[in-house]
Amino acid sequence: MPGKIVINCALPYANNSIHIGHLAGAYLPGDIFHRFNQISGRDSIFICGTDEFGTPIALQAEKEGKTPKEIVDKYYREFNQTFTDMDIKFDYFGRTTDKKHEQFVQNFFEDLEKKGYLERRMAESAFCPREKRFLPDRYVNGKCPNCGYESARGDQCDECGRTNDPKDLINPVCALCGGPAEFRETIHIFFKFSEFSGFLKEWLESKKDWRANVKSFPLNIIEGGLRDLAITRDMEWGVKLKEKGMEGKRIYVWFEALLGYLSNAMEYSEKSGNKELWKEYYDDGETYYFLGKDNIFFHTIFLPAMHQASGKYPLPYRVTGNEYLRFKGQKFSKSRGIGFTVNDVLQLVDKDSLRYYISSILPETSDSDFSSEEMKEKVNSELSGKYGNLLNRVVTFARNKNVLPIKRESDQADIELIVKMEKFREDYSALMGKIEFRKALSLWLDSVKTVNSYFNDAKPWDLIKADKKITESKLWHILKAVEYLTLAIFPFVPSGADRAWKSIHGSSIENVNFSHLAETCEFTPSESAIIFRKLEIVDEPENQMNLIVGKITFAEYHPNADSLLHLKIDLGSHEIDLVAGIRNYYTLEELKGKRIIVVENLKHAKIRGIESQGMLLAAQDSKGAHLLTTNEKEGTPVTIGGIKCNTDRKIDLDTLKIYEMRADEVDGKIVPTAIIGRNRLSLMAGNKNVEVDGNVEQKSIIR
Ligand code: 2FM
Ligand code: ZN
Repeated sequence: MPGKIVINCALPYANNSIHIGHLAGAYLPGDIFHRFNQISGRDSIFICGTDEFGTPIALQAEKEGKTPKEIVDKYYREFNQTFTDMDIKFDYFGRTTDKKHEQFVQNFFEDLEKKGYLERRMAESAFCPREKRFLPDRYVNGKCPNCGYESARGDQCDECGRTNDPKDLINPVCALCGGPAEFRETIHIFFKFSEFSGFLKEWLESKKDWRANVKSFPLNIIEGGLRDLAITRDMEWGVKLKEKGMEGKRIYVWFEALLGYLSNAMEYSEKSGNKELWKEYYDDGETYYFLGKDNIFFHTIFLPAMHQASGKYPLPYRVTGNEYLRFKGQKFSKSRGIGFTVNDVLQLVDKDSLRYYISSILPETSDSDFSSEEMKEKVNSELSGKYGNLLNRVVTFARNKNVLPIKRESDQADIELIVKMEKFREDYSALMGKIEFRKALSLWLDSVKTVNSYFNDAKPWDLIKADKKITESKLWHILKAVEYLTLAIFPFVPSGADRAWKSIHGSSIENVNFSHLAETCEFTPSESAIIFRKLEIVDEPENQMNLIVGKITFAEYHPNADSLLHLKIDLGSHEIDLVAGIRNYYTLEELKGKRIIVVENLKHAKIRGIESQGMLLAAQDSKGAHLLTTNEKEGTPVTIGGIKCNTDRKIDLDTLKIYEMRADEVDGKIVPTAIIGRNRLSLMAGNKNVEVDGNVEQKSIIR
C-alpha cells in the first residue's frame, strides 16, 4: 500500500497579487497533483499559506506608507479569493504570522542551538548612515556579481537567480534613500550550513528520478562551497528570538518560512481534530514540493540541511522546481511590470480555459511563453473543439434518439476500445506520478481523438435504424470511454470535468475515483448544455503607440523658434526629422549620438516651417526635461511591459494621453511606465527597462 502524501507549494509573499507565472510554477501543478491523487484513490493533503514576514513585506509597507500588517492582511484575503477563483483548493491555507508558527519556529531554533548547529559571530552588515539603520536583504540594491544585472536585490538576483548577500553586490545602495550603503559590524547567529555539504551532495545524488534542474543547480552550488548562513536580521518585522540581548533582531524570513510547511500541516491537523494527523503524512508518507526555479536553492539545500540538523522531520521526497513562464520572452513579474495577474486574465477568460492552457504549456523542463492567441487556439480546438464537442454529440444523440445506454454484449471493437482506455489510464497515471503533467495531458488529447473516431466509425445514427439494442450497448461503451477522459481531465480542469460528469451521470465527480471505471454503471445523459464554451476574444490590450529606439545624428537650433530644436534621428531602417522643445535642457553637443525613444506613428505636423515626423519622449519635472534613453540599438521596438504596438494607425497627441506615461518607481529604480489594459507597466527596449536621463522626480509626466 503506497504511503500518504503531503503536497506543499512555495508560500507566496503577501505583498503582491498572484500572477500567471506563480500559478504555472507552483500552485496549479500542486493542485493538479492533489486532484490526481484524489482520482487515483491516494490519500494526500494539500497545504499552503502566506509568507508574511521579512524584508519583502517590510520594504513594501514602507514604500506604501502602510504597516506590514495592513499589507499582509490585504493580500491574505486576496490570495484566498484568487485561489478560489482558480479552483485551487488547499486543505489548509495558513499564515506565517500565526502565533503557533512563531512558537514552532522558536522551538526549532532552540533544538538547533542545543545540537550545536548555531553560532554567534560578528559580521559586517549593510548600514545606511543617512537613515541610521541596518539594511537587511532587500533594503540593499546593487549590481549582481554573477551576471551583472544592475538592479539585483540584496538577497537574490532576479535575473540569474543567484542568492546573494548585500556584501556581494557591486555598488550597493540603500533601497530607501538611494545613497551608498556602508558596512558595519554587528552580531548575528549563524547556521553551520557548511557542515552539511557532504551529506547534501550524497542525498541529492541519490535522487535518481528528480528533474535535472533541481539537482544540477544545488550540486553546482555545493561544488563552489557552502557558506555558513546568518539566520538573524536587524529589523522589527519577523519572528522574535527569545534570547536576551537579541531584542532588536528577528529570525531570517527564509529560515522561518520554510518551517511554515510543517507548522501549517500541524495547524491543519489541530483543526481537523487529530493533533497527530500530520505525522501520518510526514513520517510514513512522501512530501512533494512545488516551486519556481528561483526557490530551488532554498528547498534543495537550505530546507534539507535544516531538517537534517534537527533530526526530527523527513527530508523532501521530491522537489519540483519549475522553469519560468514568460510573457513575450520575459519573466512574469508584477514588480517589474511584466505580464498579468491572475485576476487580470480572469476578466478575459474563464478559469477552465486558463487552467487548460497553462497546463498545456507548463514550464516543466524549459521556460515557456504565454500567448493569448495560442490560448484561444488551444482552448477552442482542443478542450472545446474536441472533448467538449465529443461530449455534446454523444449526449445529444442519446437524448434526441431516446437511446438508453445499457451494457449488453461487447463486440470486438468495444472490447478493444476499453483495452485502449485502460492502457491510456496506466500510461497517464505513470506520467502524472512522475510529475510529467504536460505529457499526460497530451496523452489525454490523443485519447479524446481515439474516442471521437470510435464514435464516428460506429455511426450510431445508422446503427439505430438497424438495431436499437446494439446501439444502446455501443453507446454505453462510448460513455464508458468518456468517463476515462473525464476523470483524467479532472485534475487539470475540475469545474469543467464536473459539468461533464453531471451531463452523463446527473451527479458530481467529487469523490469519484478510477475504481469507478470497472463498474457496470448506468448513465443518465442529461439535457445537452454547452460544457466548454469557445473563447471569443482574448486579445491583449491595444497598444497604439509605435515606440522605437532612435539615435540622434544631427541637432541644430530651430531657425524660426527660440525654444525648439531640429533633430535628425536614425531609426535603424530610415531617418526622420523631429522638432523638439528641449532646447533649454540639453546642449547640441550632449544630444548628438544619444539614443532616445521616438513615437514613430504620430501624425506628421509642420512646426514653424519644419515637418516633424514623430515625437521624442522626455519626462518633465520641476527641474526640467529628462530624455528617455537606452543603450539598445536604433530600430529596437519599445514595448509596454512586453506588449508591442498592435495597430497600423497614425495617432494624435490625445491618443498618447490614454497611456498616462510617467516615471515611476519599480524595484527601487525610477523608470518610465505607461498604463495599458488596467496595469501600469514598464517601457522596455528588448529585455531591458528604458531609462530616464539623470535624476528625475518620481511621478513626473512623460510626453
Ligand atoms: O518566493 C516566494 O514567494 C517565497 N515567499 C517562497 C517561500 S517558500 C517557503 F519558504 F515557504
Ligand atoms: Zn545575477
